[in-house]
Amino acid sequence: MPDIDGLLEARNFTGDQTSTGGFHVKGANAQDWGLQNRLSRIFRPSTGRTVMLAFDHGYFVGPMAGLERLDRDIAPLAPQADAIMMTRGALRTSIPSDTDAAVVLRASGGPSILRELSDEHIALDIEDAIRLNAAALAIQVFIGGEHESRSVANLARLVDVGQRYGIAVLGVTAVGKEMARDARYFRLATRICAEMGAHIVKTYYVADGFETVTASCPVPIIVAGGKKVPELEALTLAYRSIQEGAAGVDMGRNIWQSEHPAAMLAAVRAVVHDGAKPEEAYELYQERAAAGAAS
Ligand code: 5RP
Repeated sequence: MPDIDGLLEARNFTGDQTSTGGFHVKGANAQDWGLQNRLSRIFRPSTGRTVMLAFDHGYFVGPMAGLERLDRDIAPLAPQADAIMMTRGALRTSIPSDTDAAVVLRASGGPSILRELSDEHIALDIEDAIRLNAAALAIQVFIGGEHESRSVANLARLVDVGQRYGIAVLGVTAVGKEMARDARYFRLATRICAEMGAHIVKTYYVADGFETVTASCPVPIIVAGGKKVPELEALTLAYRSIQEGAAGVDMGRNIWQSEHPAAMLAAVRAVVHDGAKPEEAYELYQERAAAGAAS
């Protein structure tokens, strides 16, 4: 059994937050050309950040509010996102193939919302990911969950095939109902993803100590939006995440469950890429919403 009794709590998180070696994506300086090129499709080289639009929720919850009609509700938003994250079924059936957005494919699946969610498997062959021109593959990791070990092994296997073909892997930290959503937990979960080889890690923002999560993860962290909250609150979450070291957002419900999804996406872009303050971005949201309603 490994000697874990003498482990000291991590405490020194200070220092440079930028990527080493000049490449604009943290931790990817030593990667091959193809993988760097795919990461550059996700993270805009001019800012080093990304606005990823997530609409993969149906892979375990079915057609939730805002995702009833992917062709009608989501496809028109895709051109505004740097990257889109969805299942291959959603991509093939509902998103036009002339999109400029980088493709981030959900690669795990298995249980529905009716069962134990950590019981996931790899649910995509690399050949199909290549056929779909994927820039990255996304897989859920359940640290502390019932099937923790298998989910970590799934991630490691996906990194093996991703490295072989130059396709990035996005580790998604899933939080079970019974787990504490605090910085200590997210430091553990995000670091495990990065140590297993994930090139990007998605996690949740926490008000206390989020900068320690981004500092101790050697690859870029992007933040999930979480449940729908008022627009200004969601923009504040995006703003704080970026200020505290995140390299972008991977946002779903707070965009497509907004009354004005396109306006909300534009406001999120302003925060992530232009450094807009939440109130400024909210003004932009209101202007765009009014213009959209008038047209
Ligand atoms: C679902 C996911 C979602 O893509 C992720 O949680 C982002 O969406 P939201 O902003 O709605 O939380 O990984 O499994």
